[in-house]
Amino acid sequence: MQDFSEHLNFTKEIAFDAGKILSKHFSNISSINKKSTSIDLVTNADIESEALIVNSIQKKFPKDSIIAEESDTKESSSDFKWIIDPLDGTTNFVHNLPIFAVSIGLQYKEQTVLGVVYNPAADKMFYASINNGSYLNENTIHISSSNTLNDSLIVTGFPYLHDDRWDKSFEIFKEIYSKTRGVRRLGAAALDLCFVAMGRFEVFYEFNLKPWDICAGSLIAKEAGAKVTDWDNKKLPYTGSRILATNSKVHKEMVSILTKKEYNIFFN
Ligand code: IPD
Ligand code: CA
Ligand code: CA
Repeated sequence: MQDFSEHLNFTKEIAFDAGKILSKHFSNISSINKKSTSIDLVTNADIESEALIVNSIQKKFPKDSIIAEESDTKESSSDFKWIIDPLDGTTNFVHNLPIFAVSIGLQYKEQTVLGVVYNPAADKMFYASINNGSYLNENTIHISSSNTLNDSLIVTGFPYLHDDRWDKSFEIFKEIYSKTRGVRRLGAAALDLCFVAMGRFEVFYEFNLKPWDICAGSLIAKEAGAKVTDWDNKKLPYTGSRILATNSKVHKEMVSILTKKEYNIFFN
């Protein structure tokens, strides 16, 4: 496998710079617009952060493909594809809640090889490159060692689109709530994955996410020892349509809940 350390250092730098943009606008947003639904928001901070990240990548790696949440995909024949969420946790950001992050992943030949998630409000830089473990600032991080769901704290999220699956997801929420120490909803999927990586949560599950929500965070979780798959334990869908990340010890218990026939609407 290639050495991605140059890419990693570069990505940490641009995530840090994008984080400075977010910090500048935090508590002082000048424009809020609505996207797919009335609760799916985008601010001037999302746009400025994305412009900095995309311009920096295009300058240094002009041939690479780029998928970024707020702009059109730039497809090329390069083996490298950058997957960017310039501000994960926009609703938190708009409400002055400091749980948000810049998330940048890099794929090489369709495999995620590097992930950086930076939460500027806490100055926490999570990062990983393939086969090299996961880090928070300069320290390695690792998943929790709980053996059962009964001893586990779970984190999840809900999509902006309130359809039949959204409705059904509250039954899953209730079932999981009753079998664990509790379920949290923090509002930034990239950080949810990093918090599994560092052992705060045993489980993160969600549906209807997008590649930029999960690309970087899923590598950070995996490199910290997590198991990250589809809800039925198959390969994680790149699209983010379903994700299950656990400390691996409680994976089987979670899969047996998420694959119940009452919940097969999520696989349609
Ligand atoms: C959202 C967050 C949230 C998740 C949503 C995502 P955004 O991303 O990750 O936790 O539940 O589904 O869309 O819109 O803040 O970038
Ligand atoms: Ca997001
Ligand atoms: Ca976003």
